[in-house]
Amino acid sequence: MFHIPLSSLRSQFGNIDIYLFDQLLKGRIQKGMQLLDAGCGAGRNIAYLMQAGVQVYGADISAEAIEQTRRLASEMAPTLPARNFITADLDALPFADEKFDVVLCSAVLHFARSEEHFKGIVQELWRVLRPGGMLFARFSTTIGLEDKLQQVESRFYRMSHGPVWFLADKKLVVTLEKELGMIRLEPLKTVLVEQERTMTTWVVRKAV
Ligand SMILES: C[S@@+](CC[C@H](N)C(=O)[O-])C[C@H]1O[C@@H](n2cnc3c(N)ncnc32)[C@H](O)[C@@H]1O
Repeated sequence: MFHIPLSSLRSQFGNIDIYLFDQLLKGRIQKGMQLLDAGCGAGRNIAYLMQAGVQVYGADISAEAIEQTRRLASEMAPTLPARNFITADLDALPFADEKFDVVLCSAVLHFARSEEHFKGIVQELWRVLRPGGMLFARFSTTIGLEDKLQQVESRFYRMSHGPVWFLADKKLVVTLEKELGMIRLEPLKTVLVEQERTMTTWVVRKAV
């Protein structure tokens, strides 16, 4: 009897975030869609999507990260133009309004430099999303660890592994949802990494 080798999962999906993988299983990302990975880093979340025929774009503040992602794209999906991958701060994206069907923002928002910067990034991700499109964001928050975190100043916390991060709370997330008219595709899902941090997955849709 033939079995699919379990090792093929890794070669197919690479190091993709499992919560993003969940969105794939739910069929929310399809071939031909225009997708922006905002804060793409070296591209671990888009390697599979590029090969699957998604029209992938990436933005990152680090020119080195964009160089790595361009290299990845040239190997995985040579027809994707290098100009799809740009160096930019996410609070000022050089893309037209409503360009993307899907916007991803994985492990980036807790690097916001202030509350204004955090809001500015979310507003910008929302601006470039088309009506009916999906925003998938995963970031560290205070949710589930309220009063247990080491606060340095308003909204900034010293994490157990050293750095100071911007941590949104549930109220800030809900306020932005109301201001921008976001429609939840799922409840907020927050994972507690024992004694360390929580990571919240935020999946919302723009009204048509
Ligand atoms: C922890 S990495 C996550 C990379 C990728 N999204 C992933 O999940 O593997 C954070 C990335 O966000 C980028 N970044 C942080 N702040 C940014 C900003 N304001 N604008 C654009 N990129 C930013 C960093 O350069 C880095 O590549």
